Amino acid sequence: MDSLFLAACRGQPTARPPVWLMRQAGRYLPEYREVRSHVGFLELCKTPALAAEVTLQPIRRFGFDAAILFSDLLVPIEAMGLEVVFTEQGPSLPSPVRSARDLQRLRVFDPWESTAFVCEAIRLLVGKLGDTPLVGFAGAPFTAATYAIEGRTGRHFLETKKLLHNEPETAHLLLGMIQAATRAYLLAQVAAGAKAIQIFDSWVGVVSPEEWDEFVCEPTRALIAAVKAAGVPVIYFPHGATTLLERIARVGADVYSIDWRLPLGEARERLRKGGAAAPALQGNLDPALLLGPTERLRRQVATIKREGGGRGHIFNLGHGIYPETPVANVEALVRAVRGE
Ligand code: CP3
Repeated sequence: MDSLFLAACRGQPTARPPVWLMRQAGRYLPEYREVRSHVGFLELCKTPALAAEVTLQPIRRFGFDAAILFSDLLVPIEAMGLEVVFTEQGPSLPSPVRSARDLQRLRVFDPWESTAFVCEAIRLLVGKLGDTPLVGFAGAPFTAATYAIEGRTGRHFLETKKLLHNEPETAHLLLGMIQAATRAYLLAQVAAGAKAIQIFDSWVGVVSPEEWDEFVCEPTRALIAAVKAAGVPVIYFPHGATTLLERIARVGADVYSIDWRLPLGEARERLRKGGAAAPALQGNLDPALLLGPTERLRRQVATIKREGGGRGHIFNLGHGIYPETPVANVEALVRAVRGE
C-alpha cells in the first residue's frame, strides 16, 4: 500500500494530510547544530553517512511522513564545473557565468561519478527509512541559473535579467545545459531510491509573464516530464510566483507546492484554469507563524486543512523553516496537523 505521502502525491484522499517541512533538517535542531559544530556544510553534504544521519534527525524527532535528502541546490552546480564556497551569508560562486564564453567552463556531469556521494546517501537512507518515503530534490533550471549568473543569492537579480535580455541565446543555452545536467542528476536519485522528487524554483518570483513564456517554462516542463517518465511523482515549488499560476500549470507537475500568499482553494482553481485537471497541492503555512503563539498556528493549520480538502494535499510550509524556530512549535504543528 502507498504511504500517506505517496497517496496524496497521486491526488488520492487521505485520512489526514501527510506532513513534512521544507528545510526540516537544519539549524533549528540542536542535534543538527551539534553535527555542524565539527563539520563544514559542504563536507556534511559530501559525507554520505553524515548526510544520511542529519536527514533522519527530524524523522526520529517528529515522525514526519516524508524525509528530504540532506544536500544543497548548489551541489550539482559545483559538479557542472563552477567553484562554490559556503560563507556565513550563504553560497558564493567566485567565477559566475556572464557571457557565451563562460559557458565553455560548464559540463553535463555523470551523477554516478561527480555526485556519487548523493547516490550513496540515498542508498543508505532507503535502508534505514523503512516505510517513510525519501524525497530527492534539485533546483529548477531558472533558480539554479540565478546562482550560476549572480554568483550568490540574488537581491534584484539584475545580472540574470541582463543576460536574459542582452544575450537571449546564451541564456537559452545555459538553461538548457542546466536542465540536461539536472535531469541526469535527478534520474540518478530516483535510481538510487528516491520515491518522489521536489524541484525548488525559489527565485522564479522575479520573472515577468513574458520571461516565463520565453525562457523558463520549457526547460522546467522538459525536466519535470523526464523525471515523471521514471515513474515517481514530481513536486514543483514556484516560490513567490502565485501571480503566474495559470501559466505555471503548463509544466505538468503532479504536485504544486504553494507559498503562503494564496489560499490553497484559489491556487487549485487557478491551476485548473491553466489546464491542470486535478492538481495535488502542497503547503502552505507561513513559516513565520512558527515563531508566534501556538493559538494562531493551530487556527491557520485548521484553515489550511479545510482548504486542502482531504484529497491530494500534503501539509507543508510555504517556504523553508527559519533557523530561530522553537522545536516545541514544530511539535505543536505536527500535533495540530494530525488532529491531536
Ligand atoms: O530541506 C531539507 O531539510 C534538506 C536540505 C536543504 C538544504 N538546502 C540544506 C541547507 C535543501 C532542500 C536545500 C535547498 C536550497 N539551497 C534552496 C532551495 C530551498 C529554498 O529554501 O528555497 C536554496 C535557495 C539553497 C541555497 C542555499 N543554501 C542558501 C541560500 C543557503 C544560505 C541560507 C541558509 O539557509 O543558510 C544555503 C545553506 C544551507 N542549505 C543550510 C542548510 C541546512 C545552512 C547551512 C548551515 O548549516 O550553516
